[in-house]
Amino acid sequence: MASPNLAKEQWANKYWNEVDGFRNISCATCPKLDKKQQLCRIPFGTPLRKCVVAGIEAHLHNAKGKSVLELGFGRFSLAKNLVKRSGGIWTGIEPRQSMDKKPKIGRGGYGHAENIPFSDETFDMVFGIQTLEHWGQKCSGAARAPSEYEDCLNEILRVLKPGGTIYLDAPIHLHGNEMFIMGDIERIKNHFADDLWCNLVVERWRYDYQPLERYAPYEKLFDEWKEEITSYSVEEVEMAKQNPIWLLTISAEKRTP
Ligand SMILES: C[S@@+](CC[C@H](N)C(=O)[O-])C[C@H]1O[C@@H](n2cnc3c(N)ncnc32)[C@H](O)[C@@H]1O
Repeated sequence: MASPNLAKEQWANKYWNEVDGFRNISCATCPKLDKKQQLCRIPFGTPLRKCVVAGIEAHLHNAKGKSVLELGFGRFSLAKNLVKRSGGIWTGIEPRQSMDKKPKIGRGGYGHAENIPFSDETFDMVFGIQTLEHWGQKCSGAARAPSEYEDCLNEILRVLKPGGTIYLDAPIHLHGNEMFIMGDIERIKNHFADDLWCNLVVERWRYDYQPLERYAPYEKLFDEWKEEITSYSVEEVEMAKQNPIWLLTISAEKRTP
């Protein structure tokens, strides 16, 4: 992971192209591409995870003076470290922590997006890395019973200060709630109501993956897809299987009344 200063420098210029209302970060023009070797410079992880790391660097390198809440941090500390190293106060909640471990400002503990154990208007920023798609997941591997996205987002709004921001990322065509498996971006975006959120930015990382390799959905995922997907036709699911996996990121600001 780049230092906050290096990340600031690497992501200072416009790193996306506007396409159909999205910001596309194609691998061909991504600051992380080693043009000579035609490789991603992030040395570890799946093709998707490399984009996750790049997205974190682009969005979380300047937390100076901010109180920041991470949802569903799991065992992953890259984002936490970047927030802390750039001068932010990191707090985290995670449903897989022991329920006895109460979260406090400045440390992690038990909690989930549907019921955030902090008072109103506590945080300048709330973020979640590869967790959003699981909040409303019905089947195997889910940390808890599925939540309603509306309830989670209302909780996030409650704990954000006026003008506070969010950064959420999720894989498309991999796993989680059916909206994410199917890549139904309009349905995902509809959860971010205009009267509650402003400056909504949706990025597509690895949507245009060339000159890097295609990262396609694989057979092992499909049993879970079968269990999870109930609102789309067999034909639509078959079409989704043909698409490459990519990373969706959502940033937005809590609208001030
Ligand atoms: C794929 S893991 C990602 C963990 C970590 N953020 C990372 O990037 O490695 C998904 C995480 O989301 C958490 N999670 C699932 N449902 C959640 C919810 N409703 N609220 C908060 N976190 C949740 C899981 O417990 C798990 O730690």
